[in-house]
Amino acid sequence: MTTRYRGLLAVPFVLYSQPTGVFGDDTNVAKMAEEAHRRYAEIMRDVELMIDDHIARQNQDRVFPSKLGMLVPTAGPFFTRLPLEAAFKYQDRKRYMSSRRYVAPSFNDVRLVLNSAQIMAVTNGALQLATFDGDVTLYDDGQSLEPSSPIIPRLLDLLRKNIKIGIVTAAGYTTADRYYGRLHGLLDAIADSTDLDPVQKQNIVIMGGEANYLFEYEPSSPYRLAPVPRPEWLTPDMAAWSEAEIMALLDVAESALRDCVRTMNLPAIIVRKDRAVGIVPNPPEIRIARESLEETVLVVQRILELSALGAPSQQAGQGAQGRRGVPFCAFNGGRDVFVDIGDKSWGVTVCQQWFGRRSGGTTGADAALTAIKGENTLHVGDQFLSAGSNDFKARSVGTTAWIASPAETVELLDELADLMQKKLS
Ligand code: IMP
Ligand code: MG
Repeated sequence: MTTRYRGLLAVPFVLYSQPTGVFGDDTNVAKMAEEAHRRYAEIMRDVELMIDDHIARQNQDRVFPSKLGMLVPTAGPFFTRLPLEAAFKYQDRKRYMSSRRYVAPSFNDVRLVLNSAQIMAVTNGALQLATFDGDVTLYDDGQSLEPSSPIIPRLLDLLRKNIKIGIVTAAGYTTADRYYGRLHGLLDAIADSTDLDPVQKQNIVIMGGEANYLFEYEPSSPYRLAPVPRPEWLTPDMAAWSEAEIMALLDVAESALRDCVRTMNLPAIIVRKDRAVGIVPNPPEIRIARESLEETVLVVQRILELSALGAPSQQAGQGAQGRRGVPFCAFNGGRDVFVDIGDKSWGVTVCQQWFGRRSGGTTGADAALTAIKGENTLHVGDQFLSAGSNDFKARSVGTTAWIASPAETVELLDELADLMQKKLS
């Protein structure tokens, strides 16, 4: 969809930009910028209205799709409206897109406008749960959340505002010490904080392996975390995935990965875990070509689909009719490829139900009723485009923001805090 918006903005760029303007001619550039700004804003407003119409229709069982649905058949559900015009004006003040004469509004420009619009839409008191991917979102790929990270005070600020936090990472470990290793800066800061009360400190969970290991905050543990036994958090749908099917799926995935390593002669070894299987570079410092990683994801995805064991496109929140197989997520992690059982749509759903149940004070079957809703959830991640894109899956159960680096996460959290502050006062 981001590509479509960009296409729409290219027209006024071609018509209004003044690449022949003489250097130093500020008045002309200012005039051009003003006109381009007006036209870009108009287009944003038109798309905003198109989304409004789509939202009005998605809530009814209409036979005819919306115009947006016809233009972008892959468009997902909208949990909130998107104030694109206001978001564009905000980003134009930061990025001066309208003042550019040679570089048209880019994919990144549009991505950031969409993020701002989504942030604006959830800061009217709606935001209850913020979930974050790990690698590339909270820290650089393969690194850890160190005490000096500027992200930490911003996450503490969310907790202080009684917003729940889920770290929904693909990194899959069975024990608390490994997650402490990756997240110690944040976990220690929570433990040491004097202005968070015990309930607020409890408002963070780690969901590892996308949807496979849940840890809650535990002040008495040296790792600040305690594993939560699966029966306490699996949704009824997830509880129905049989252990035998899971193992069979991972076996097929493993043999497909082995074939890829052999046929493309990849410098990689297989890593098999109890809920995942992947390939990692060997030696570790070598980089496997992006094309090879993408090809591997697509091959494994296809083989699992054909095996009838896997249900790749089956995400949480889509109803249980006609289901077969176990959902999985095969993705390109940048340096590696992993196949996880379930995906982040399930992981975020577990967070929604976990916190919903806690504040609702109920247990058992009505977890889905007390769950935090999609319009009250924001997932922040970096994987929305590469093969398998594990963060994109969260789009089916909540609103999302697409960042490209930990520095962008910092900016996003500042924007969020700023708007919450403004709307309070
Ligand atoms: P994320 O960005 O936090 O979702 O982490 C993704 C990265 O975690 C992958 O690219 C892998 O490098 C790493 N990882 C470690 N263990 C696992 C696993 O069991 N499944 C998937 N990814 C894993
Ligand atoms: Mg990531």
